[in-house]
Amino acid sequence: MRTLGEPQRAGLNVLHHAPDLTILNLVWGPGMTVMPHNHRMAAVIGIYTGREDNTFWRRVGVEENGVGRIEAAGGKALSARDCAILGKDIIHSVTNPIPRLTGAIHVYWGGDFFEIDKSEWDPETLCERPYDKEKVARLFEDSNAALTAAR
Ligand SMILES: [Fe+2]
Repeated sequence: MRTLGEPQRAGLNVLHHAPDLTILNLVWGPGMTVMPHNHRMAAVIGIYTGREDNTFWRRVGVEENGVGRIEAAGGKALSARDCAILGKDIIHSVTNPIPRLTGAIHVYWGGDFFEIDKSEWDPETLCERPYDKEKVARLFEDSNAALTAAR
């Protein structure tokens, strides 16, 4: 917090990006949720302010239409100074359950975070589809618009 400053707005801020290692300062808006997704890279998450709740999911086979589904398999509530280690096959969804910004350092390695093919799972049907990074960017924008309106 001393180095990065107190978060002022939701966002995915890149601290370091290389073909094999990416470090993000992720700031989650109040109440913000990101649908289940994978990264296909190992990760370590450390919280420096606020809360980040992770739900972990496992694959449960394939629908008749060939689409893979998931079910909830566990979770971990992270508070400031907590960390979580995610294996490269982990599927998770993330929620900031508190009414203020949460700041977390996310470290990903073993690939290029911005280039690797990822999946997301529809939050309603839990069916797999390609990861839509524009939609996730809009989640941050919507969260900031709500934050500005509330101030
Ligand atoms: Fe993630």
